[in-house]
Amino acid sequence: MRSDDKVLIFDTTLRDGEQSPGVALGTNEKLEIARALERMRVDFIEAGFPASSPGDFESVTAIAKEVRGTAIAGLARAVGGDVDACWDAVKHAAQPRIHVFLSSSDIHILHQLEKDREQVLEMARSQVARAAKHCSDVEFSPMDATRSEPEYVFRMLTECIDAGATTVNIPDTVGYAIPEEFGDFIRQIQEKVPNIHKAVISVHCHNDLGLAVGNSLAAVRAGARQIETCINGIGERAGNASLEEVVMSIKTRGDFFGLSTNVDTTQIHRTSRLVSQLTGMSVQPNKAIVGANAFRHQSGIHQHGVTKLRETYEIIDAHDIGLSRGGMIVLNKNSGRHGLKSRLDELGYEITSEELDRVFVAFKDLADKKGEIDDRDLDALVSEERRTVEDVYKLDLLQVSCGNQLIPTATVRIIGPEGKIAETTSTGTGPVDASYRAINGLIGVPNHLVEYTVNSVTEGIDAQGEVTVRIEAADRTFVGRAADTDIVVASARALLNALNRLLAHMPREQQEVWANP
Ligand code: KIV
Ligand code: ZN
Repeated sequence: MRSDDKVLIFDTTLRDGEQSPGVALGTNEKLEIARALERMRVDFIEAGFPASSPGDFESVTAIAKEVRGTAIAGLARAVGGDVDACWDAVKHAAQPRIHVFLSSSDIHILHQLEKDREQVLEMARSQVARAAKHCSDVEFSPMDATRSEPEYVFRMLTECIDAGATTVNIPDTVGYAIPEEFGDFIRQIQEKVPNIHKAVISVHCHNDLGLAVGNSLAAVRAGARQIETCINGIGERAGNASLEEVVMSIKTRGDFFGLSTNVDTTQIHRTSRLVSQLTGMSVQPNKAIVGANAFRHQSGIHQHGVTKLRETYEIIDAHDIGLSRGGMIVLNKNSGRHGLKSRLDELGYEITSEELDRVFVAFKDLADKKGEIDDRDLDALVSEERRTVEDVYKLDLLQVSCGNQLIPTATVRIIGPEGKIAETTSTGTGPVDASYRAINGLIGVPNHLVEYTVNSVTEGIDAQGEVTVRIEAADRTFVGRAADTDIVVASARALLNALNRLLAHMPREQQEVWANP
C-alpha cells in the first residue's frame, strides 16, 4: 500500500463535508456518494462519526457493509465509547480504519477540554491503544495542530505511534497555516518524531484563508503521503481542501511533484455534480476544475487560440475530468424510456425502475415544454424526483396572481402525512413572498429565510429555474432545492424541501406540524 511516489487520497466528504452548515444527508444519499467515491478509486472514505448520532452509526455501518472496494474509516473522539462505537460500525468493511482525534493546542486543551497537557496525552495514548486492539489500521489526529506548541505535537505523535497509530494526520483545523510554514512543520515532524518511519503522514487542511489546497500540496512536497479532501471543497466553515483541485494539481504538474494518486480523474465531474445535487451546495461558476466556467473561453483571442490548439489556453483536457467536449447528448420528446435510461446510466445514476418511471413522466412533461433536454436538465429532473419522494409535505397546488396592478396573491394546497390536505391563501410583496407566507401559514414551524437564489439550469428563456433556499431554525441551517420551468413553483417546492429537512430533524412526535389544517 505504501509507496513513496503515491499520494493517498482520504476523502471526508461524508464526514467533514457533511458538517457544512445546512447539509444533512440520509443513509441512501451517503451510500450513493460512497459508491461514486469507490468508482473514483479514492483510497479511503471517511464515512462518518458513528458515536455522534444513531443516523451516523447506521450510515457508516451500511457503507462498510456495501462498499467493498475502498477502505472505510470512521471518526472517534479519544474516549472509549466513541472508539468502540466506531469499531462496531466500520468492522464490517473489507479494510476498516478507526480515526481517533484529540486537540493538542492549549487553547482547546484549557478552554474546551478543561484538562492539562499530561491528561490529554494519556487520553490520546490510551485510546489509540484501544483502537489498535480492535483494528490494525488506526489514524490519529492532533486537532488544531498548527496552533499547538510543536514540541508537544511531536511528543503526542511519538506516543500515539508507539501505541499503534499507523497514520498520523496533521490537521490545520482552523485554516491558519501558510504553505511554506506548513511544509516546514511537516519536515520538522520527520526530524523530531523518532518513530515517524512507522506511520504515513497525512494532512487535513481547512480553507479559512483560501489556502487549504496550497497547504496540502506544500505538505506533500515536504513528505506527507496522504491528503484529506472533500469533493467540491465542502466542509466546516469555508470547507476543506478540494479533492478535484488536489488531485488535478498532482496530475497536471507531475513534472513538478513527481507523484501520482490512484484516483480515476474521469469520475471527477460526475461525482462533483452528484455531491452538489445531494448536498444542495452549488458549485460557484469560477470554481477550479468543476465550475461551469472552468473550460469556457470568453475572449475572442482565447477562443481563437483554443480552436487552433487546445493547449494554448487550457492546461487540463476536459476529458480527463470526465467532461465530454463534443457537446452534450441532447434528448427530446421523441426519446423513449430506453434512451433516457441509457443516458442516465452513462451519467452515473443508479436509478431503480420505479424511479425511472417517475423521471420518465417528468422528462416527457419537460420535453413538451422546452423541446431539447440536455444532461443538466436530467440532473435537475433526477434530483427533483429523489427530493420529492423523501418529502413528507408535498406541494399539491399553487396558484398565483400578480402583476403591476395587482396585489400578489398565492393559494397553496399541501398534502402532508397520511394524505392530510390543507389549503390557504396569502398576499405578499411578490408571488414568491405570497407563496412563502401561505406555506409558512400552513406548516407552523418558526423559521427564518436567510438565502434565496434562482439559477437557470440551461441557457434559454424556456430553461428550468433551480431555486436554492436556506432557512434557519433552532440554531441550524437547512437547505432546500427544487427545479421547474416555473420559478414560482420551484421556489415553493424549494421552501417545502428545506422545511421537510428541518422536520426530519425534529422528534417524530413533533413532526406533524399543521398550523392551519
Ligand atoms: O479539522 C479537523 O481538525 C478535523 C479532525 C477531526 C481531523 O476535522
Ligand atoms: Zn476538519
